[in-house]
Amino acid sequence: MSLLIKNAKIVNADKEAQNLQDILIEKGVIIKIAPSINTTDVPILDIKGKRALPGLIDLHVHLREPGREDKETIESGSRAAVKGGFTTVFCMPNTNPVIDNCMIVESIIKEAKRVGLVNVVPIGAITRGLKGEELVDMFEMKQAGCFALSDDGKCVSNARVMKLALQYAQMAQILLIQHAEDHALAAEGVMHEGYYSTLLGLKPQPGLAETVMIARDIELAHYLKTRIHFAHVSLKRSVELIKIAKSQGIQVTAEACPHHFSLTDEAVKSFDTNLKVNPPLRSREDVEAIKQALKDGILDCISTDHAPHTPEDKEAGFDLAPFGMIGLETAVGLVCSELVQQKILSWPQVAQKMSQRSAEIMGLKTKGEIKEGMDGDLTVIDAEKEWEFKKEMIASKSKNSPFIGRKFKGCVEATICGGKIVYENQVV
Ligand code: DOR
Ligand code: ZN
Repeated sequence: MSLLIKNAKIVNADKEAQNLQDILIEKGVIIKIAPSINTTDVPILDIKGKRALPGLIDLHVHLREPGREDKETIESGSRAAVKGGFTTVFCMPNTNPVIDNCMIVESIIKEAKRVGLVNVVPIGAITRGLKGEELVDMFEMKQAGCFALSDDGKCVSNARVMKLALQYAQMAQILLIQHAEDHALAAEGVMHEGYYSTLLGLKPQPGLAETVMIARDIELAHYLKTRIHFAHVSLKRSVELIKIAKSQGIQVTAEACPHHFSLTDEAVKSFDTNLKVNPPLRSREDVEAIKQALKDGILDCISTDHAPHTPEDKEAGFDLAPFGMIGLETAVGLVCSELVQQKILSWPQVAQKMSQRSAEIMGLKTKGEIKEGMDGDLTVIDAEKEWEFKKEMIASKSKNSPFIGRKFKGCVEATICGGKIVYENQVV
């Protein structure tokens, strides 16, 4: 697809341009960036001085297809993604059947292409059926189109299985993403263990369940000299462990989710089951540590853990409701309100945490930067525009968000994927 974007304030991870530029995309690739480009026969999008970031990349979404198409499909999830400014999403394998063989990987890629809105990259399982026992064929998964494997939703509990998985992943050159949770310590807790779990009488999940697994896997990565990526890091202590590991040259990377830098366990007082997520919302001290770690680069990137669930599922009591909240359509609003306006992150840092570093972690060489020769994936953001997140405007099939009714400053104005305008904000 071809497109000429006029008057863009280009933001890359290394700098924010001072002068406005035009960007010419041909056949899905950025071919020219200059102060003024004039061509005929190419559609024009004038963004009038708004910020253009490299297309946002989400390393962690649940699209529920196959198996729970009542919660989300590749099509509805793609629409939610472009509305949220994302041009590439990596979808987790805890579907039914589980994404643990090449046929399912291929079918997801095929369906995403048919929908044609965003790049959907399936994350395969580490173990067959997410059972934590037998490894998938990693070489086959890589060949089918997986860049990473994860048993997300569950942790690979057995250290011997995880050790073997890391060794094979290194040979297959595929990234392993760990959902760090010691199941015995988590003990079916439904919220963070602390003052509020006692006050509310809800089953506690101690922070230790996350930190002991992070410590174990850092040790495995150190011993084997392999890479590992930690999903949804939520605790101050986890950040400290990752900081030490990085200082010792251990190849760890890690992500944080918007709900973990914007909400504390105190919010659970409302008993809103949309606040039930795994890992759970943590203490104020943890939230501050997550923000600081994003600023300092200890946490590499921001991912949503978009986890759609039906109202019927979420209407159960807090003990029984499933874990998860949707996140694709509020990520930019939360990043602007909680991080940029609070002067935690600069705009180049936003481009880094939501695109450049995510691309780097996954080895996507033609994404994550607005530069000649790179893919024509861009996200246009109006940093000043105020808006309210309303239930009626949610593109996701599921509406399980605790942010409905919340006002944000900063919104997605347009999303361009491979030179095609896949979303334009109609609200003035
Ligand atoms: O909150 C969560 N929801 N955490 C997970 O680990 C799984 C996810 C889901 O699949 O709903
Ligand atoms: Zn998870």
